[in-house]
Amino acid sequence: MNDRPKPCLFVSLEGGEGAGKSTQIKLLAELFRAPDREIVVTREPGGSAGAERIRAVLLDPAATDLDGITQCLLFAAARRDHMRATIGPALARGAVVLCDRFIDSTRAYQGAGGAVPAGLIRRLETLSTGRVPHLTLILDLPPEIGMARARARHGAELAGSDPFEQQDIDFHARIRTEFLAIAAAEPGRCAVIDAIGSPEAVFARIRRVVEARCGAWLMQ
Ligand code: TMP
Repeated sequence: MNDRPKPCLFVSLEGGEGAGKSTQIKLLAELFRAPDREIVVTREPGGSAGAERIRAVLLDPAATDLDGITQCLLFAAARRDHMRATIGPALARGAVVLCDRFIDSTRAYQGAGGAVPAGLIRRLETLSTGRVPHLTLILDLPPEIGMARARARHGAELAGSDPFEQQDIDFHARIRTEFLAIAAAEPGRCAVIDAIGSPEAVFARIRRVVEARCGAWLMQ
């Protein structure tokens, strides 16, 4: 019998509003599925009981009065609980963890979007999680297309959507620019995926990247 600990895999999906992350993460889980392999699909903010309670505070449509630093502190608190209760134990068991948003969303939304200094965001990353994903897939599309998709999801008006979706197009353009800058700065961890097109077309692009970068995993 082989007693070596099973190697874990931590993949995050990032992107602006309407990028199709929730559809793609389900397809990704199917791609990784294999006998004796545990797959944990989770999300931020949330993914543990405590973090889901913090999510309700952050994404309350009325929470537009929270400043960027307050949001950062709450996202960091949620991330710490998520890491402690869900992601950390799953990785320790050797699972594949697929996470819908992680540290890069804070860098993009609160950093580029909310003008919170990068140094503060990095300190909170250290406090909330010691871990960086093995692979981060950044679903990229023009904010006009993403916001149109999000509007279609919520009805014509964005009233009732979360405080981030309610922001103007300039905010969403800054988010996109920041995600692309993160990918350029960390090419070993990040891959940019063109998110224009049908879910099947987008997933074919994701599949190519995952097979190239995690081929050994898929063969296990
Ligand atoms: P979603 O579940 O539809 O992706 O919504 C989560 C929202 O929270 C989305 O607008 C992005 C925002 N967000 C941040 O602003 N900072 C973060 O660190 C995370 C994880 C999400």
